Amino acid sequence: MPPREAGAEAFVPATGGLSALSSAVQACRGCALHENATQAVFGEGSARARVLLVGEQPGDSEDVEGHPFVGPAGRTLDRAFRETGLRRDDVYLTNVVKHFKFTPAERGKRRIHKKPSAAEVRACTPWLTAELRLVRPELVVCLGATAAKALLGGSFLVTQHRGVLLDFPESFELGERGPDSVLATVHPSSVLRATDREAAYLDFRNDLRTAAEAVG
Ligand code: URA
Ligand code: SF4
Repeated sequence: MPPREAGAEAFVPATGGLSALSSAVQACRGCALHENATQAVFGEGSARARVLLVGEQPGDSEDVEGHPFVGPAGRTLDRAFRETGLRRDDVYLTNVVKHFKFTPAERGKRRIHKKPSAAEVRACTPWLTAELRLVRPELVVCLGATAAKALLGGSFLVTQHRGVLLDFPESFELGERGPDSVLATVHPSSVLRATDREAAYLDFRNDLRTAAEAVG
């Protein structure tokens, strides 16, 4: 038996564009998360985006609909896009992990999101690397700790460095074709859980504005 998190590498096509990748991801067996999810949810947006935003993994709505950020977190993100001049069609929006991890819910309720393990994040990262190689954005925005740790290392703390433009790490092995910078902010779903939602939203929007101005 191969390990359950053998990784996506063997499933990522060596040639072809984003549409080849997004078809191939449906057959990925790089970790066990495909077993219970409805489908893989690949990144979407402009193949020539200057900004690529990375979330954690699809949520309940995304798993059913097959598109990234179409649920409650996506609506918060869309509001921030509107108010900072970013457009969904101009950016590229994806997740570190492409299959939904959840605990089954009682009948009729939304399934509860479970955080992907470090091994699952590692297993799925070849898809994100392939997206970065094809889109070649100038700036990557990490939405939340899972994305930030995947790109900037396990000890990176969003709370300490949010909203700050940082050099894109060489450790990600994209070489000269890699993005110039990376900016981490909170996950839009954390805005929805905050005690003072509006204040949390305004801080989030502020970080996205820094991103928008950086490529402005
Ligand atoms: N949360 C994420 O991180 N990504 C989505 O696509 C939806 C919710
Ligand atoms: Fe493959 Fe990622 Fe899905 Fe795991 S979560 S099966 S690595 S696409």
